[in-house]
Amino acid sequence: MPVEIHRDTAGQRSDYTIEQNWDSYTPEEHATWAKLFERQVRLLKDRVVPVFMDNVDGLAMAGDGIPDFRRLNDILGKATGWSVVAVPGLVPDASFFEHLANRRFPSTCFIRTPEQLDYLEEPDCFHDVFGHVPLLLDPVFADYMQEYGKGGLKAEGQGALRRLARLYWYTVEFGLTRTSQGLRVYGAGIASSTGETVFALDDPSPNRIAFDLERVMRTDYRIDDYQETYFVIPGFASLMRATEPDFTPIYAALDELPDIAAGTVTDGDHVLHFGTGRYHRDRHRATA
Ligand code: PHE
Ligand code: CO
Repeated sequence: MPVEIHRDTAGQRSDYTIEQNWDSYTPEEHATWAKLFERQVRLLKDRVVPVFMDNVDGLAMAGDGIPDFRRLNDILGKATGWSVVAVPGLVPDASFFEHLANRRFPSTCFIRTPEQLDYLEEPDCFHDVFGHVPLLLDPVFADYMQEYGKGGLKAEGQGALRRLARLYWYTVEFGLTRTSQGLRVYGAGIASSTGETVFALDDPSPNRIAFDLERVMRTDYRIDDYQETYFVIPGFASLMRATEPDFTPIYAALDELPDIAAGTVTDGDHVLHFGTGRYHRDRHRATA
């Protein structure tokens, strides 16, 4: 029943937002958050970009339950001008970009059931809040997210959404970054997943390749399993610089080039780790 309250589209506004209804979470739902939170904080300590954990603290996200968006927004608003708005699920592209361009992050407010602790096909509030919100407190990353939203509104009219979506996927969701302490996670899709955190950083199977804008925009991705390739940025400022130019001529140039399969390594790649590909080969054999 509570899951439904937090996915209810009845009171949905024209920008797809709803009320979080924080008071109606059950103790079980708060306990699910607490379990996920505790496990992920422990795992991420030496695996996530340090500013992520600092900001988890800064937002006073605690292990005792699902954060109240009103409280998060007090802190976020003062720091970077971002806010979290509740939505029942995925929102249409145009609306998603419109929110980001205005420094609003659309977040689900339902939480997975205890049976879905390890895997869920769609984002819930643990992914959206724990995975995405800490970096909205980082001034550079906060700007990147807004620029991405503006870029999305522009790309829609240029038929380039597929390319721009790949950029989001391989940075905001599944990005890795170098730090003085070694390779770290910053993508929310990794940071909210126990299995993928370990896979992305430590498993010999996936490729780890230095981020290159055009390369990323040409690369397919998996939505149903761990990634076959992760792209590594030197830091947020560098990501920001790489994405600053007008993409219009880049989109046009890429139309002449073929797409690259998710697991392929190409001649021009700066390869940090050449993946064995074993994980996905075994999976295919198992399901064939
Ligand atoms: N520079 C991009 C454009 O011209 C906009 C953008 C910035 C997209 C940052 C993504 C991230 O479309
Ligand atoms: Co996400």
